[in-house]
Amino acid sequence: MKIAVVTGASSGLGKEFARQIPHLYKKLDEIWVVARRENRLKILAERMEERERISVRIFAGDLAKDSVYERLASALCEDQPDIRMLVNCAGFGKMGRFGEIPEKEQLSMIDVNCRALTRMTLVCLPYMSGGSRIVNAASAAAFSPQPGFAVYAAGKAYVKSLSHALAAELKERQIFVTAVCPGPVDTEFFRRSGKLPGRGGRLGRADAGAVVKRALRDTAVKRQLSVYGAPMKAAGILSKLLPDAVTAAVMKRINDI
Ligand SMILES: NC(=O)c1ccc[n+]([C@@H]2O[C@H](COP(=O)([O-])OP(=O)(O)OC[C@H]3O[C@@H](n4cnc5c(N)ncnc54)[C@H](OP(=O)(O)O)[C@@H]3O)[C@@H](O)[C@H]2O)c1
Repeated sequence: MKIAVVTGASSGLGKEFARQIPHLYKKLDEIWVVARRENRLKILAERMEERERISVRIFAGDLAKDSVYERLASALCEDQPDIRMLVNCAGFGKMGRFGEIPEKEQLSMIDVNCRALTRMTLVCLPYMSGGSRIVNAASAAAFSPQPGFAVYAAGKAYVKSLSHALAAELKERQIFVTAVCPGPVDTEFFRRSGKLPGRGGRLGRADAGAVVKRALRDTAVKRQLSVYGAPMKAAGILSKLLPDAVTAAVMKRINDI
């Protein structure tokens, strides 16, 4: 049985990945989706079974807790599927000064954005084979330290770095890894993140469908990095040319923090 696994499928980019993957990978038997809001996943599953004619298996649960991994691991062990694509998309951000965001939120960001992504990859990797793909939701925030978004940006730098390292390690198994690094995207992300006072908070937001389309194309041609839009591509290049202390000072001004 060939499957794709998508975390964060109840909304935004993850939901788009779940919807678009069957159009690109036509031989999938099932998509397994993970998020906390079971109702949202049920609605997605009904729509996909009707429109994309693909079965969707729901794993509702909190990726910061053990139970969802245990259920997923036992389903994998029982069915022995061939995971053709793993999309680690669950994540969230919280903006504000480092000392002013509650400790619980900061640590939870690390748990979901870094720890959960790492754990999901460890759980799924034994079921992946030649030609399969891992797609990790990083962010353009990974390009530079971000005063006002410090823990989020540091976590996304972890995701980007891990993705490149895994891409190198897994090349011999012909498993290809892509870190997706968009700038702001129009999703529910900003309901939870809040907004910074500066220009950074007023940047235009890309369409989630277009970002995912680009990411799936980049994944198909084995690109390690998927960056949507010219401004974020320029930001990525600039961040390689300038020292971190300089880009951090620039971001501090942009975010007006
Ligand atoms: N939107 C942007 O501007 C932007 C830009 C760059 C990168 N990204 C990254 O893209 C990814 C998707 O974000 P999005 O924009 O699509 O945001 P979103 O619409 O808020 O979706 C976030 C998803 O993550 C899931 N999630 C969050 N915490 C979870 C937890 N503890 N356990 C299980 N699932 C959890 C949510 O599901 P439940 O709430 O149902 O659990 C939801 O499905 C994130 O990693 C984000 O950092 C977003």
